[in-house]
Amino acid sequence: MVAYYARRAAVYDEVYRIPVRAAELAALQNWLRAAVHDRSVLEVAAGTGHWTAIAATTARKILATDVNEAMLERAVQRGCGVHVTFRRADAFDLPLLVPAPDTAMAHLWWSHLRREERARFLRHLRSRVQPGARLLLIDECDHWQVVPPPSHRDAAGNGYEARLLPDGELFAIVKNYPTDAELQADLAAACDAVTIRRGDYFWSVQAVFR
Ligand SMILES: C[S@@+](CC[C@H](N)C(=O)[O-])C[C@H]1O[C@@H](n2cnc3c(N)ncnc32)[C@H](O)[C@@H]1O
Repeated sequence: MVAYYARRAAVYDEVYRIPVRAAELAALQNWLRAAVHDRSVLEVAAGTGHWTAIAATTARKILATDVNEAMLERAVQRGCGVHVTFRRADAFDLPLLVPAPDTAMAHLWWSHLRREERARFLRHLRSRVQPGARLLLIDECDHWQVVPPPSHRDAAGNGYEARLLPDGELFAIVKNYPTDAELQADLAAACDAVTIRRGDYFWSVQAVFR
């Protein structure tokens, strides 16, 4: 995963230029702007800062993190404003901020978590935000027009997709497509008021850490 995204940074944003997804993406942008309005946000796995830049138009403050410098370099170039900072950090070793943020967001990240890592990730993220903080997730649905079928599954049920980079290098990366019931069950361990919205191409979650 880490090596794959480091190598894919230069072409990553193509994922947001698939025409059939444009209408859903526009609706998600509005949803995100409203959800982070006047909030202090910790972002996990921010990548090239696609959602950071959108959130930056209404959020009070954002610390956007990612494990890959190559992704963050592109995010910085977006010029999100002085209220947005970027920092290299692993999703399982996030900075402890004072005061703690009132919002956490991680987009197109949950699908890359192994099923058996989800609880640990949620516990860690909860330890980095205020009690009662808002959790926001956006991720992809398993849509036959856009998403390739998994190349294989492991014993824990994680799906793997074959991803070919422009230079011809082939990676197999974890990509899971949870059902609403699975999301509710996983998030219930750390969150209340879980609201899931599902379109044809993307799902989103808003929840409250307890
Ligand atoms: C699918 S991209 C999502 C980027 C961005 N959030 C978006 O929605 O466009 C996944 C991101 O996870 C990052 N990543 C992979 N492993 C990570 C880890 N252990 N900790 C933090 N970020 C990680 C990659 O560098 C990549 O930027």
